[in-house]
Amino acid sequence: MASPAVPFFLLLLFAILSNTFADPDLLQDTCVADLSSGVTINGFVCKPSNNLSANDFFFNGLKNPGLVNNSLGSLVTAANVLKIPGLNTLGVSLARVDYAPGGVNPPHTHPRATEIVFVLKGKLDVGFITTANVLISRTIKVGEVFTFPKGLVHFQKNNGVGNAAVIAAFNSQLPGTQTIAATLFAACPPVPNNVLAKAFQIGTKEVEKIKSRLAPKK
Ligand code: GLV
Ligand code: MN
Repeated sequence: MASPAVPFFLLLLFAILSNTFADPDLLQDTCVADLSSGVTINGFVCKPSNNLSANDFFFNGLKNPGLVNNSLGSLVTAANVLKIPGLNTLGVSLARVDYAPGGVNPPHTHPRATEIVFVLKGKLDVGFITTANVLISRTIKVGEVFTFPKGLVHFQKNNGVGNAAVIAAFNSQLPGTQTIAATLFAACPPVPNNVLAKAFQIGTKEVEKIKSRLAPKK
C-alpha cells in the first residue's frame, strides 16, 4: 500500500494549484473560522489573528478506517472547515471514504466543488453522469486517481472481495453533499408524494415505501 503522506500532499497541491477555484480567493494569510460566532457571512468570521494555534490547521481523523457496518456499507469522514477551522477561505478540503465489500457511496453531488479521489486500498467501480445523461465510468485501483466534475451526480461501488478506501480532495472548504435518494425521499418537511410519484412514474404507495426505508433512524 502507498504511504498515505504522499497522496495527501499531492491531492492538496493539486487543489491549491488548480486555477478553477470554486471558493472565492482569500484577502489575507489566514482567516481561522470562529465556528461559535453568531455572525453569519459567506463562510465564517475569522478568529483574532493573535489567537491562532497549529491545532486550528490540524486534524487526525482520517488516519483510521471509518466504520462501514451500515446499510450502505460505506462511510465518508469529512476533513472540511467544520473539522479544520484553518481551512476557512482557503478553498480546499479532504475526506476519507471507506467501503466494505459490496459497499456503495450512493449517487450524490457536491454543489460547491469538483472532487478528485486517490485510491488508498482495494478497487472501486466509479462513475458520474453528465448533464447530457451520459454515464462516464470505470474501475480504479490502488494508487489511481479519478475526477468527479463540480455539481455532477457520481457514485462509487466496491465490487472487490476486500475493503476499499479513498482519499478525496475538493476545491471548496465545505463542498456540501446532496445524496439523491435521501434528498428526495427523506427531506424535512417531506417532498410531496404526488411530486415524487409523477417524477419517478410510480404510485404513491411505492413512494411511501421508499420514504419509510430512508427515514432517519430515531
Ligand atoms: C465521495 O464521492 C465523497 O464525496 O466523499
Ligand atoms: Mn463525492
